[in-house]
Amino acid sequence: MKLLGVVGSLRKESYNLAFARTIQERFNDRFEWELAEIRSLPLFDQDEEQSPPPSVLKLRKQVQEADGVIIVTPEYNWSIPGVLKNALDWLSRVEQPLIGKPVMTAGVSTGIMGTIRAQLHLREVLAAPGIRAKLLPPAGNELLINLAAQKFDATGRLKDESTLQHLDGAVGRFLEFVQSAR
Ligand SMILES: Cc1cc2nc3c(=O)[nH]c(=O)nc-3n(C[C@H](O)[C@H](O)[C@H](O)COP(=O)(O)O)c2cc1C
Repeated sequence: MKLLGVVGSLRKESYNLAFARTIQERFNDRFEWELAEIRSLPLFDQDEEQSPPPSVLKLRKQVQEADGVIIVTPEYNWSIPGVLKNALDWLSRVEQPLIGKPVMTAGVSTGIMGTIRAQLHLREVLAAPGIRAKLLPPAGNELLINLAAQKFDATGRLKDESTLQHLDGAVGRFLEFVQSAR
């Protein structure tokens, strides 16, 4: 099984990137994992959508070839970061590789709310006509990691045991969900 990670933060020391790496490390015997490169995507331009630059073509292909996608995103101003929305806008046009694709969302914040607003917005975007992802039902599977500074160590490793246990359960259920969609 092949999964694609999409991280909504471009920051080198991003907690969300660290969380995506934690997923990769904990499950490396259960799926192949690739991280999408969204930094190099140009701003979405409808004039370019029929013959977009290589970075867009690569992302479309990565999504097409993945059995499932895990989006790990911070919350910026009560929503998803523009870089993530930009990537989703590119993916919503022409080939539309997210249609029917199993997707799970997760997010890490430094504050108390754990990206709840961003993920609610994200779920609405994922339901849009050009995207129509097959979203893992959130009940029982929500990964809302708050107070990140207390849960990651200085090397960027997630150390909070109850979060790790919840992560194992939620990702395990996502793998079953992906399997059943194949
Ligand atoms: C532009 C900006 C807006 C932010 N807005 C929110 C917000 O609405 N809610 C929240 O919980 N945290 C907010 N934060 C704090 C982020 O949770 C925190 O910076 C987090 O570490 C970002 O994720 P990263 O470590 O993966 O880069 C904001 C941070 C930035 C830079």
